[in-house]
Amino acid sequence: MTKFNRRNWLKSTTLTTASLAVGSGASFFSNTRPEADLAASTKFWEWENRPTKKPRDLWNLNARLLANENPYGPSPVARLTIMENVARGNRYGHGEAAKLIEMLAEKEGVPKEYIMLGPGSSDLLEKTAITHFLEGGNIVSADPAYMSLIKTAQRMKATWKSIPLTDTWEHDLPAMEKAIDANTQLIYICNPNNPTGTITDGKALWNFCDKVADKKPVFVDEAYLEFMDPALQMSMVGLVQKGKNVIVCRTFSKVYGMAGLRVGYIVALPSTLEKIKAVTRSNMSLNVTAVKGAMASLGDTAFVDSCRTKNKECREYVVAELKKLGYTPAPSHTSFVLFPISWKGDEYLEKMFDQGIGVRAFEIHDQTYCRVSIGTMDEMKLFVDAFKKVAV
Ligand SMILES: Cc1ncc(COP(=O)(O)O)c(C=O)c1O
Repeated sequence: MTKFNRRNWLKSTTLTTASLAVGSGASFFSNTRPEADLAASTKFWEWENRPTKKPRDLWNLNARLLANENPYGPSPVARLTIMENVARGNRYGHGEAAKLIEMLAEKEGVPKEYIMLGPGSSDLLEKTAITHFLEGGNIVSADPAYMSLIKTAQRMKATWKSIPLTDTWEHDLPAMEKAIDANTQLIYICNPNNPTGTITDGKALWNFCDKVADKKPVFVDEAYLEFMDPALQMSMVGLVQKGKNVIVCRTFSKVYGMAGLRVGYIVALPSTLEKIKAVTRSNMSLNVTAVKGAMASLGDTAFVDSCRTKNKECREYVVAELKKLGYTPAPSHTSFVLFPISWKGDEYLEKMFDQGIGVRAFEIHDQTYCRVSIGTMDEMKLFVDAFKKVAV
């Protein structure tokens, strides 16, 4: 595997080197970090809590491209169902949750005992972390990764064994396997990955999970799976069907456009769900309107297809514009794009907020990146215009 020192690359090249294509062998992620540095993590500037000089109204931006939300959702069918069910808010929704579980079990090809619902997948990421790290231990994942489960695990006193992504932005599966030891309680995989938007080959991941899950549980976060080209989509749910100790996490927040309504679920062996449910509660934290909305969304496959198509069009537009400006976005298969920038994160966010555009900034191994979520075409044009003003 090519070893590449990103810091030197950034020193020796400028961001206007458009010819340096990602995937040509160069990577932003060094595989050369020493063992002692394993705890180093991706830093990001929180939009709720940024060190900002001015208060910002994040609801009323010209383009809100900071949380990978779906600009088209919820689906029209889900909206109607939600409105019709608002008046039922006086009742507990256990029965409706049970119906949603049955629908999801059918969709995923597993018995209903294999499904656990949560108010968004964050809840399930955290509950899994709490219940798997009660006695400490370590968690193995890629770096950078989506940090929710990892951070909760660390707060439970787990050690994070972080393995840099490869030169081709994939999980370094052999290195991850090597990092697993007797104290490993869980392996976390996010595919497609956040914040990079990049993917790990489905077959390679399948073989990895198939083998490793015989030793330790593997958690696969598939929040963005539906944004991938359908020919490339490969869920790890098939491994749960085979009886493997794999926990697959899905959400209604992304392609279904229900981020503010909060429904997510995991598919896992009943023994794993029992372990989680022994400490935490499942359906009690759900709200009945969101559950109804999720049920309606499942039936609206045309909406999902149209979101995937529009997202791809807008993503291709923004990637092409960034490349014209000399930037090198990571090859995204998701509803967001990550690219390196030369400003400090908070400075950059401030400049973009001044233009009415909300995005995210990450610092990954000493390099700042912008992560821009894919909105409507109008919003992406506003982003590109604002970025051009900031970049001059
Ligand atoms: C990879 C990944 N997993 C999980 C989540 C959590 O989403 P939610 O709690 O809305 O389901 C997100 C949200 O951005 C995400 O990017």
